[in-house]
Amino acid sequence: MKYIKTLVEPPIAILKIDRETHLNALNIDVIQQLSAELDILESLEGVRVVIIIGAGNKAFVAGADIKEFANYSIEQGEDLSKRGQDALFNKIENFKKPIIAAINGYALGGGLELALSCHMRVASENAKMGLPECSLGLIPGYGGTQRLVRTIGRTHATEMILTSRVINVDFAEKIGLINVKSSQEELLKTAKKLATSCVNNSPKSLETAIKCINKNFDKSGLIFEQKEFGQLFGTSEFAEGVSAFLEKRKPNY
Ligand code: CAA
Repeated sequence: MKYIKTLVEPPIAILKIDRETHLNALNIDVIQQLSAELDILESLEGVRVVIIIGAGNKAFVAGADIKEFANYSIEQGEDLSKRGQDALFNKIENFKKPIIAAINGYALGGGLELALSCHMRVASENAKMGLPECSLGLIPGYGGTQRLVRTIGRTHATEMILTSRVINVDFAEKIGLINVKSSQEELLKTAKKLATSCVNNSPKSLETAIKCINKNFDKSGLIFEQKEFGQLFGTSEFAEGVSAFLEKRKPNY
């Protein structure tokens, strides 16, 4: 199954995650396919900026695929986090060209973590953002405990993670989670406008600036998060959290 649609409109490329029936949730195939497309775009000379968007008008990405990891062991949980971060999230953060997330609806869990890996974020008025993993008996496992804190600071990041609160676009703008707010119809146009503001700059400067900006951050927290994320797969609370999601009920911890 092909889950990524790539549209190259030099100097911009648009990657659309096309798994609308599952609100574009990130299963292993989506992650691998996105990763492979990014490799192609990184070496494509005509492409200067990449935009990532979700298919449909309901979700950017509603998280990692809960059904896929529902029965994972501790080792598989840690591996899920490690492989995802290596293949996609860290790749995006360290990409040589600017990447913009166009958040066109729900960006939850792994979906918000994907947007946080991108260098900039634009969001539509219907966007809803959050890291609800603690409500599932987990923690964010694709870098959220590190990148959300770096992006919006400890006060709001801690609240969002510990409460699993889902925030709207106005609050996201207020706390600096997104760069630009847009109507749903104009979202891609808004993302392209931001992309166009980068394209006349020196590509080598952009690559170097991204490298230097990333140097501000310690990588060890990402590895620590992978291990802690994995450990939670061995708990009865994880089993309850995932069962509750699959049975469409509230968990009882
Ligand atoms: N994984 C797998 N399937 C998902 C999904 C996910 N993260 N999010 C939504 N879906 C599926 C639903 O199961 C449903 O499928 P069925 O029709 O087969 O039941 C379909 O997408 C449509 O979703 P809903 O019926 O739930 O739509 P809704 O409008 O009632 O609710 C929602 C939308 C609030 C986003 C709700 O789908 C939801 O809460 N999704 C899960 C969000 C979440 O917890 N994300 C974090 C995942 S864990 C994670 O990301 C770990 C990590 O850090 C690595």
